[in-house]
Amino acid sequence: MRGIKILGTGTYMPDTVASNDWFSTILDTNDEWIYSRTGIRERRISEDKPNWYMAVEAANAAIKDSGIDPAEIDLVLAATCSPDYFYPALSCIVQNRTGASGAAAFDINSACTGFINALDTASRFLEDSDYRNVLIVASERLAPHCDYTDRSASILFGDGAGAAVITRNDKPMWSYLSAKGDFFSALWCKVDHSRSNCPLLKPDALPEGLLDTEAKTHTLQMNGKAVYKFAVDAMETAVHKVLERSGLGMEDIDLYIPHQANARIIESAVKALGLPQDKVYVNLEKHGNTSSACIPTCLAELRQAGKIQDGMTVCLVGFGAGLTSGAIVFNQ
Ligand code: ACO
Repeated sequence: MRGIKILGTGTYMPDTVASNDWFSTILDTNDEWIYSRTGIRERRISEDKPNWYMAVEAANAAIKDSGIDPAEIDLVLAATCSPDYFYPALSCIVQNRTGASGAAAFDINSACTGFINALDTASRFLEDSDYRNVLIVASERLAPHCDYTDRSASILFGDGAGAAVITRNDKPMWSYLSAKGDFFSALWCKVDHSRSNCPLLKPDALPEGLLDTEAKTHTLQMNGKAVYKFAVDAMETAVHKVLERSGLGMEDIDLYIPHQANARIIESAVKALGLPQDKVYVNLEKHGNTSSACIPTCLAELRQAGKIQDGMTVCLVGFGAGLTSGAIVFNQ
């Protein structure tokens, strides 16, 4: 695959901090339970800023960091599973608000695996000489999706955005993408059509066994145990597969950036793979799970700290609703 080079990164985190102690004021839970089961202490909630605003802030920060003119961006990809609008695509709003006026734009929804799928897509576009620079933004406002009476799911998620401007690199890149639609019912959130005034509309008549749509139709529904088990296996498989494709060994990777869903998931996968802990970046203590925004937010933090340098080999690995998963190895 066409190699990629990160020219710039950016992130946006809302101001409002929802700590574990805050959750204990609205739910029967406490800091000790949440931290020991998830590794999360706090997450950000976007009280009044829509998803597109966070996406645009992160995208503009990434463009500034890259030093390129927005007019030089040929493609805008937005990864999100929590858009403000069915249409226009989030990527079109980002294109408008960043000045990337010559760029094509479309969205990718593979939930928490969104950034991985977007990076894979970007690499394939960069094979084409018409595409030189791609802006990828991953942005999620999950607070409106969460049911704040559900203590096992609502405590996991946070809002935020991360972005990267990438260009071609002569060094190779490898990718492994997977989807297991057999497990789609493990994590879902339904579109709320109940406000339609079409006189002909009735409640959906679905094939038996698809999804429970009778109650809680528009909040996130999760089978935590099923997702947990899937996640550990998926991370392990994705890393093995992408390394097999690359011909590289675990020791050839300088940095592993996993999706930040739960510290215990990351620890289990790290142990099963035998990865050195000091090469695995984890930031979920402060952000929780921001879905597709997790990985680019990690990239932005690492780049800002000078920890991603030219020549480094980086492995990104993620999983999410679908259930989807994937991993990418690239040489910066
Ligand atoms: N505080 C206190 N008690 C709680 C809480 C809480 N926040 N949440 C659940 N409990 C209780 C349960 O009610 C249950 O009580 P009971 O035994 O009296 O019935 C008990 O704790 C154990 O519940 P479990 O569900 O077995 O808890 P578990 O240790 O499995 O942890 C968790 C739950 C954290 C959700 C875990 O299953 C998990 O992390 N799963 C993966 C979820 C995930 O990563 N989702 C997102 C990934 S995909 C994506 O990113 C979109």
